[in-house]
Amino acid sequence: MDAKQRVGLKAAEYVKDGMIVGLGTGSTATWFVREVARRIREEKITVTGVSSSLACSLLAKAEGIPLVPPDQIDSVDLYVDGADEVDPDKGMIKGRGAAMVGEKLLAEACASFIIIADESKIVPRLGAKFPVPVEVMPSASRLVARGIEALGGKPTLRMAAGGKDGPVVSDNGNLILDATFGPDPDWRALDAALNALPGVVGHGLFLRYGAKSTLLVGSATGVRVVI
Ligand code: A5P
Repeated sequence: MDAKQRVGLKAAEYVKDGMIVGLGTGSTATWFVREVARRIREEKITVTGVSSSLACSLLAKAEGIPLVPPDQIDSVDLYVDGADEVDPDKGMIKGRGAAMVGEKLLAEACASFIIIADESKIVPRLGAKFPVPVEVMPSASRLVARGIEALGGKPTLRMAAGGKDGPVVSDNGNLILDATFGPDPDWRALDAALNALPGVVGHGLFLRYGAKSTLLVGSATGVRVVI
């Protein structure tokens, strides 16, 4: 069993009968979603899923997990998702899969957040490996790019690979600017400054959820729990 599978299966143990569960996006969360589906089928637990993305919805439907749309819920009991980077305060960069806006809705709404990661995701400081993805209205992309530069960042329009020409278009019909910032920027100030740029729909800095988060770190041999 590889680390992503191990940690995804472990997270599914936290799901209790009757819960509304936020379902994450990505290769790690996929293991979690599949295991929740198995528990529904075999253990007959009742779970209502709330999806973080179109990719997640397709997977959850194929696996037979009942879904409720985010606009029909007031809260989420438990949200489980992966991350691109996790720092010692459980701050994260998310959005490699361009799903960070739907993911942040669930991070905000949940009572508890379980972050599932392999060791490669654990970093001493954010920005070590990944840019910060910023979802922008198409009409605002040029002006937001200038705004990111004014904040000290270098934005790059994310291009689609393979089955589509041109840029990546998010589940919400928007574009993604991947922004790198200099060494050790003030991430909290950047979080607020990015939110304040007109035309920004959301971004992949998740800095405010550490207190309600449990981090599960998977390795080849086991799962480390960081409370
Ligand atoms: C989706 O946009 C992302 O936020 C993912 O949750 C994150 O990239 C983790 O994905 P993996 O589990 O595939 O690394």
